[in-house]
Amino acid sequence: MPHVISKAVIPVAGMGTRFLPATKAMPKEMLPVVDKPAIQYVVEEAVSAGLHDVLMITGRNKSAVENHFDKVGELEAVLRSKGDDEKLDKVRYSTDLADVHYVRQGDPLGLGHAVLRAQMHVGHEPFAVLLGDDIIDERDALLTRMLQVQADLNTTVVALLEVDPSQTHLYGIATVEPTGEDDVVRVTGLVEKPPPGEAPSNLAIIGRYVLRPEIFEVLERTAPGKGGEIQLTDALQELAQGPAWTGGVHGVVFRGRRYDTGDRLDYLKAIVQLASDRGDLGPDFRGWLREFVETLP
Ligand code: UTP
Repeated sequence: MPHVISKAVIPVAGMGTRFLPATKAMPKEMLPVVDKPAIQYVVEEAVSAGLHDVLMITGRNKSAVENHFDKVGELEAVLRSKGDDEKLDKVRYSTDLADVHYVRQGDPLGLGHAVLRAQMHVGHEPFAVLLGDDIIDERDALLTRMLQVQADLNTTVVALLEVDPSQTHLYGIATVEPTGEDDVVRVTGLVEKPPPGEAPSNLAIIGRYVLRPEIFEVLERTAPGKGGEIQLTDALQELAQGPAWTGGVHGVVFRGRRYDTGDRLDYLKAIVQLASDRGDLGPDFRGWLREFVETLP
């Protein structure tokens, strides 16, 4: 019987240097995307895929993330005294969303190092990893599909997105073979941020993973790689090429909407796209946007 996955690990300990100075004192995961911090979308996604046990890997300057998922008694009291139930619900929603736990990473030595900090909490079960600055549109159930593939094949699963060849140097890139299913590939090799022109494909790893607990043993011996960081991609490469009992690595090819809020341009695009689609703000915003676009040189 495959283990039913219930735990999500969300690393939020990176320094967010691409967003300085906004991230000097505030985590990039708390940047608002329309009216919710990016991290709330990510936790909502985990919960809607059935993962109610959330472990955040945090670091310095990340207390705002903890506060966001905590109760704020005085704010609730003020809203209650005003009878403003709508805002009260918004405040309470993130508090009650999931069972959120925290562990600190210490030094931000890379994504692989951050994931290794989840070992005690996760134990010997498969688990999901969601990057806190990567938003997958709620209408595109990527994580649910990945959990299904993990259960069917008892494998390690990464999410792959076809990117423009000019962008491959920004991602972990996969070499793949087809399987019988259109959206599932077998990953035969992975390389982290290959130099421009040297990528083996244009299938990039994006911020969703479903991992087997064997990843921890591999991460323990993974040496620092690209950028001097302990790279999750390097550990996954070992699994992709490792013995059959590890189940290998498969990729779910994602063809839906994804917003990288850790990148300034993608962050702006995310706000415009998500605001345009909103039932409350969308009609006015789209009207203004059309007029604004007309004025552009
Ligand atoms: P990024 O490379 O996008 O994060 O890591 P970063 O280092 O914060 O970004 P820049 O390049 O300096 O702007 C992907 C994810 O992994 C987490 C980040 O918080 C982000 O969610 N991460 C990265 C950690 O938790 N620990 C690390 O040591 C590195």
